Order: sequence, then C-alpha cells, then structure tokens
Amino acid sequence: MKRILVVGSSNVDIVVRTKMLPAPGETVHGLSVEKNPGGKGANQAVAAGKLGGSVVFLSSIGNDGDEQILLDMFGQAGLNTDFIHRADMQTGTAYILVDEKGRNSIVAVPGANDDCSVEYLKSNRNAFEESDIILISLEIPQESAEYAIRLGAELKKTIILNPAPAPDSFEESLYPCIDYITPNETELGKMSGMSISSDEEIVKAAEKLLGKGVRNVIVTLGGRGAMLVSPEDHRLFTPPDIAVVDTTAAGDTFNGAVCVYLAEGRSIEEAIAFANNASTISVSRKGAQTSIPTRKEVDEFASKGGRF
Ligand code: RIB
Repeated sequence: MKRILVVGSSNVDIVVRTKMLPAPGETVHGLSVEKNPGGKGANQAVAAGKLGGSVVFLSSIGNDGDEQILLDMFGQAGLNTDFIHRADMQTGTAYILVDEKGRNSIVAVPGANDDCSVEYLKSNRNAFEESDIILISLEIPQESAEYAIRLGAELKKTIILNPAPAPDSFEESLYPCIDYITPNETELGKMSGMSISSDEEIVKAAEKLLGKGVRNVIVTLGGRGAMLVSPEDHRLFTPPDIAVVDTTAAGDTFNGAVCVYLAEGRSIEEAIAFANNASTISVSRKGAQTSIPTRKEVDEFASKGGRF
C-alpha cells in the first residue's frame, strides 16, 4: 500500500450546541459544551488512519496541556507522529457552534499552527520523500502550504489540495502542481472568481481551475455528495441518505478517505464513492475526529447499501 503524508493544522475544538446559531448581536441559549480533538489537518490524518491508511502527519501542536487530547487520538488512529512539532505556544483552538440541524459556525484561532513553518517542513524533507500521496490543507501559514505543494510536486508525488479555509489569493504557478483539488462550493467560488448557483456553474468554475493546470477537481457538495470534474468528463456522486447530527469534519473525512482508496490503488471514482460513505457516517455523529468511522464501519455500511 502507498504511504500518505498529511500536512496541516491541529486544533482543540470547543463545541457549543444550540438550537439556533445566533445572528450578529444576538444571545442564544446553549445546550452543552465539549472539548474535542479537531483541526482540518488532524481530522484528515485521523480519517486516513482510522480508514486503514499508512499515515505520517506533519503539524504543530502547543504545550498548554490541550495537545494531549490530540496526541491520544493520533495514537488511537495509528498515525506516525514522530515528526510533529511541539511549539512553546497555545494549541490551536476552534470555537464551534452547532445548531439542531447539524450546521456549524467556526472561529479558529491558529496558536501553535502558526509555527507550522517552511523551516519545519524543510527539516522534514524525508517525510515528503518517503510518501506517495500528500494531502495538504490551508489552516497553516499559506507560505508553508505552498512550500509543501511545490516540494511534493518536485518529488513527483500525488498532490491533493483541500483549499480550506478558502484562500484570499492563490499563486497561479501552483495550480499545475496539483493532481486533485477538493473545494466545497464556497471555496470553488472564491478560487475561480465565479458565482455558483447551479451544477452547470459548478462545472464551469471547476473547468476554470482545470484551465489553470489542475488535473482533477472534486467539488464537495454537502448532503448532495461530490462532483468530479476532469478534462474528459464530469460526474455527480450522490451519497446515501442519513439523519444529520453534526456536519463538522465531513469534508475532512472525505479527503482522508479519498487518500486511503487511492493509496490502495483504486480508481478516483471508487475513492469518491468510498469517501461519500465515510463522510455520510461522520455527519450522523457528534464532533470532528470523534465522528470519523473505522474502515470496518464503512465497509459494513457499504455492504448494507449505505444503511445502518
Ligand atoms: O473542518 C473542521 C475543523 O475546522 C474543525 O475540527 C475545527 O478545528 C476547524 O478547524
């Protein structure tokens, strides 16, 4: 099996459940508060690990005690954490409000993620050299993410970019380095500079990224699944129906799952179908990493036609 390298953030998520998300200036009643392991990069690495991948994770965590929640989960998911950076800072923290429909609002304070520097990545060049598939997200300094994309491409690795959170600008020369880019609709709109309100517009915006040199675009569409747009074709992959509890980390689970199936030598179409099942299960549960299913759970779910 091919080896996966994940480069990205680690956060501790402070999750408040509420009936309705507050409007600006409004105070609402909260139902509960929890502290969970999260962060886009960490969620993706844990997803790839729980789903059976061989995963090295490059990330920066703090030393305020909160990092232990993350390290415990990394251990359970079987990640190689030998190269994780320990910064003398506060661990990244995300404040997440989740409403009764499972929708969320997130404010992420980077903390130690700001120390996921180019120098740190340079000093772990061997982790890049020894991997086959590299998954990168943007909740770390942008110059570090850009460095990881360039180094991975120079080493002829398969590069998957999850452009989340949506960047304000993106270096044009990086597009040809990317094998798969996995924006949601908002991120696709921002990166393409186009407004998107239909499937036709999704395809047009994705084709704009293909025109810049990306080899494949996979647009994640929440409950509608994902759209694969390649130079040859475009195809919508619909997920099974499920009662939504919490959508946090659904996209991260999707990205980790795609990497695992590609690492096993499966086609991108098979990888998207697998990832749809994994992220569908994740939205039926609370939390970020706590909601991510194991490989056994996804395989059983698939064998029952996407039903529990
Ligand atoms: O993608 C979900 C993640 O975004 C959360 O776990 C939170 O940490 C934020 O970074």
